[in-house]
Amino acid sequence: LSPSRAVSQPAGANYEESEVPDYTLPDPLTAEDGSRISSPERWRDSRRPEILRQFEGLMYGKTPGGRPDAMRWEVIESATDALGGAAKRKQVRIFFSGRADGPRMDLLLYTPADATGPVPTFLGLNFKGNHTVFPDPAITIPEGADESSRGDRRGRWPVDEIVGRGFGLATAFYFDIDPDVKDQWRDGVHPLFYAEGQDRPLPDEWGSIGAWAWGLSRALDYLETDEDVDGARVVVLGHSRLGKTSLWAGAQDDRFALVISNDSGCGGAALSRRRFGETVERINTSFPHWFSDTFNEFNADEDSLPFDQHMLIALIAPRPVLVCSAEGDLWADPRGEFLSAYHASPVFELLGTDGIAGVEEMPPVNELVGGTIGYHVRPGEHDVTMRDWEVFMEFADRHLGREESR
Ligand code: GCU
Repeated sequence: LSPSRAVSQPAGANYEESEVPDYTLPDPLTAEDGSRISSPERWRDSRRPEILRQFEGLMYGKTPGGRPDAMRWEVIESATDALGGAAKRKQVRIFFSGRADGPRMDLLLYTPADATGPVPTFLGLNFKGNHTVFPDPAITIPEGADESSRGDRRGRWPVDEIVGRGFGLATAFYFDIDPDVKDQWRDGVHPLFYAEGQDRPLPDEWGSIGAWAWGLSRALDYLETDEDVDGARVVVLGHSRLGKTSLWAGAQDDRFALVISNDSGCGGAALSRRRFGETVERINTSFPHWFSDTFNEFNADEDSLPFDQHMLIALIAPRPVLVCSAEGDLWADPRGEFLSAYHASPVFELLGTDGIAGVEEMPPVNELVGGTIGYHVRPGEHDVTMRDWEVFMEFADRHLGREESR
């Protein structure tokens, strides 16, 4: 059941700043035809769709459809006295195709018991099953896992603190949407969209990251209907491969009010052209199922991409985005993650927000900087820690507020 293991600093990659090649970043505000984008309308109506199409066609792959008409959900369990009375708990089974024997996702939701109205809610996929996020015996265990792992990812999901600060937390196991294995494309949600006779995505269609992002939008479809959740204040977040996923989900689905990427690295917030730590070729070789097949054309040829990852962040504008790094996570290129945030700023500014708010340099550890685009680097390795969550919650408080629901 376990996802392919993440290693923080494999050998054979560049970890020297002085070895970063010279590169020129594409300008998010210059259209394909060379014209300058100088109004919010032109960004919205023409340049943004153009960039979105490029990311779809060349990297993450096209998402073949939205919410299936027959999709439905069932609340399979709920309680009003979870977490020692501090929270309401709900477990919702989402049948993607409507069929009980088709792919389905279990969404676990905690909301503060004392909320007087719908609350802003963090939504993120987890790596090992909902039962690993908190040692709550009521949480369903996915097929293939057992009691021994209950609560063992608790350190990454400070449920008490999140609920204690007035937020909701919704999470689902990413394997429910698409198992993270180099499969033959027979499992997960991909087959739901195959045309007659098709048995794998076309070269420019979605891989697993695209599927996981789609699953996050389906979770939001439910959350928008839950009376305890403020559907207009859902924060999509993720760590590592799931941070790549949260950015892609936030870029495609503007119902997400705020987007957080934690240590997302190559294919996430880090600039590909820096080739620092993990590279496009390396990621496509180790994880051929994450992106579209077309993305292989850019192995060792990052400079031919019409975009870099700062433009993924720009797609989220003017909604707030927070990019978090870990100092010791060189594989994910913390500086490259900062630079993406930085170079996305002109788009946020064109749309009337403060973007990175004049920050010119990568900040020291433990200092949250920026404005509508936030950036933070903490000491330590590739992980999600309490410090990360403090920053997530501070940023969400700043940009979404929560006073009115308590
Ligand atoms: C590997 C992979 C990264 C990914 C990470 C993870 O290290 O190379 O791209 O972010 O796994 O998901 O933990």
